[in-house]
Amino acid sequence: MANVLVTGGAGFIGSHFARALEFMQCGKVVVYDVMAYSSDLNRLNDFKGIIVTGDICDIEKVGSTLREHNITQIINFAAESHVDRSIEDVNPFLRTNVFGTVNLMEAAEKYWLESDGGYKDKLFVQISTDEVYGELREKDRPLDENAPLKPSNPYAASKAAADQFVIAKTSGEGFPGMIVRSSNNYGLNQNDEKLIPKVVRCLKESKDIPLYGNGQQRRCWLYVEDYCRILIELMEAEPIGEIYNVKGASSMSNLEVACKMREAYASFVNLPVDAVSHIAFVQDRKTHDYFYNIDQSKLLRMGIWPALKRLEDFIDEKHFFIK
Ligand SMILES: NC(=O)c1ccc[n+]([C@@H]2O[C@H](COP(=O)([O-])OP(=O)(O)OC[C@H]3O[C@@H](n4cnc5c(N)ncnc54)[C@H](O)[C@@H]3O)[C@@H](O)[C@H]2O)c1
Repeated sequence: MANVLVTGGAGFIGSHFARALEFMQCGKVVVYDVMAYSSDLNRLNDFKGIIVTGDICDIEKVGSTLREHNITQIINFAAESHVDRSIEDVNPFLRTNVFGTVNLMEAAEKYWLESDGGYKDKLFVQISTDEVYGELREKDRPLDENAPLKPSNPYAASKAAADQFVIAKTSGEGFPGMIVRSSNNYGLNQNDEKLIPKVVRCLKESKDIPLYGNGQQRRCWLYVEDYCRILIELMEAEPIGEIYNVKGASSMSNLEVACKMREAYASFVNLPVDAVSHIAFVQDRKTHDYFYNIDQSKLLRMGIWPALKRLEDFIDEKHFFIK
């Protein structure tokens, strides 16, 4: 029975994952989070597991938490995750995303190699992103896990650097690591600074919806609950040393997302579309990738069901507006 440490478990994806895992398994589920601006303990209201406030860069605290709860698996969601912030100041991204990941692996290595069985039945999952592969056009072929990493913003570069440390430690030293790179997630309880919650807030407050540039940047949208189910299945399979791409079920541009949400909100409040917030195109950020597109055939070959929920359908269900 695995005891799992979920770092960044008070964040958007980590909190969905901790709750899903608690529902599925009998071992301990321990959330470990520094409680940065992007965390929210309300996301864990119905979580009965253990919550530890701590920094992944604090090797003593990580080590004592691993020992206290006899942790056998670690899944690392803890991160600075907002591209705009990384363009303003890269330092927190270097600290948490790169140094923090290395630190977590070193603490795990120390604890696991000192405990019975060493690396046997142990697993470290690094949560990465499709952004590490860099920008594509729609005509380009989707990239598989062997594609070179070509990040084009500081956030993506910090995630790519962390991936390289996980690969080095796993292939070089036999550390039980694996990496999962997903496309953009959506679902309830996402941080306010991300596109979909921002559009919801503007609609509710009758403010213009700001979209960078011409709004044509396109993303593959992955429903967070689909992603958590896939991660749990992957962890059960324990494919140590492997990298998996996980892709969303819908590909939509930022403009398409905003338009679809306007229509859904207008119908929710029973008004014509023109009577709700309008879209305002604003100065694009310094670097803004047009499209990411990953090939997830390796995941499908594992016999794991792909993401099923389409963003279009989720918007039509109007959960964003009810909450
Ligand atoms: N959200 C997406 O669409 C998406 C897509 C692909 C990959 N990812 C990756 O998934 C992971 C989770 O993303 P998210 O959207 O849930 O992020 P989030 O910003 O909502 O949550 C991050 C969490 O990490 C915590 N944290 C930050 N620094 C920490 C530190 N030093 N020590 C411990 N905890 C710390 C924060 O307090 C927060 O609770 C990230 O690694 C991100 O790169 C996210």
